[in-house]
Amino acid sequence: MRTVDWEQGVVRLIDQRKLPWEFHVAEYRDHRALAEAITDMVVRGAPAIGATAAYGMALAGLNSQADTLDSIRADLQAAARLLRETRPTAVNLAREIELQLKVAADPQWTTADQVRAALIREAHATADGDVAINRRMGEHGANLVSDGDTILHHCNTGSLATVDYGTALGVIRCAHEQGKQVHVLVDETRPRLQGARLTAWELDNLGIPFDLIVDSAAGHLIRSGQVNLVLVGADRIAANGDVANKIGTYQLGVIARENGVPMYSVAPTSTVDLALPSGDDIPIEERPREEVTCVFGHRVAPDGISARNPAFDVTPHRYLTGIVTENGVVYPPFEVSLRRAVMEGSSL
Ligand code: MRU
Repeated sequence: MRTVDWEQGVVRLIDQRKLPWEFHVAEYRDHRALAEAITDMVVRGAPAIGATAAYGMALAGLNSQADTLDSIRADLQAAARLLRETRPTAVNLAREIELQLKVAADPQWTTADQVRAALIREAHATADGDVAINRRMGEHGANLVSDGDTILHHCNTGSLATVDYGTALGVIRCAHEQGKQVHVLVDETRPRLQGARLTAWELDNLGIPFDLIVDSAAGHLIRSGQVNLVLVGADRIAANGDVANKIGTYQLGVIARENGVPMYSVAPTSTVDLALPSGDDIPIEERPREEVTCVFGHRVAPDGISARNPAFDVTPHRYLTGIVTENGVVYPPFEVSLRRAVMEGSSL
């Protein structure tokens, strides 16, 4: 099944907190519960939470008792405020919520029921569009992969981080489907272990060879010539090409550049935020300190100590060789090439 799905007024999510031990599908009939699921990371990954938010707005429309256009639009504004607060870094979430508000505001609607139907249609279009876009990115990115490459990958950017197929992992998957022999070094990605739990699970299911590594092994493996390519996703890309992604990405960029290994971020143009001139303006989510002091409920640090848990970092654009989008691979100067890639999408 898709990571994010909809069946007759119910949003169905693969519960990513339980993988790889249990494959459980959680069901949501209420946008408030769905907002909690995004915060708790039942679903995570920029495109996946974008699609979930789109369905959350559709649920809010369905569950609203409103029978006038003004009142359903007011209920949707309240739902948008709640959903927007769930996770601040990935721009896809905010973007999909704004899109749904625009759909609801369309002057062509004369009844609240028309708004409800349009919100569901738009959420389906977002979900279907994500899968199609990921396949296109996969093909563009696979051109960068040579037969025999060892690819270092951070966090989880696969089917589970999207509606289906994936971004950076989609590139690896596409190269594998083309018959290229690839080997993946999977960063475990502390503290939530998206690499160890989710990427390893996906690669195992796909039959793509990999080794799991601790995050701090990446530098040694890159410096000793055991990595040909670094592929990561993105949660938000500023207009100048600075990339916010899972904490630990920045150090990979610096080490890759220092050792002459190419590093690409793979992301749909919906992750590009042209309103932000640089990555310094991207909000960085700080998550609960218990994610650092405990591993799956088991305390690994002295009781009551202080901890910091920034969930993302910003890799300045100078460390990126290029950015893979559904409209092609773009290269520096990113101010020009990224804008062009985004505009190309909007004229399609
Ligand atoms: O905290 P997460 O697991 O939501 O973070 C996910 C990432 O950082 C991914 O690399 C990013 O969303 C791109 S995935 C398509």
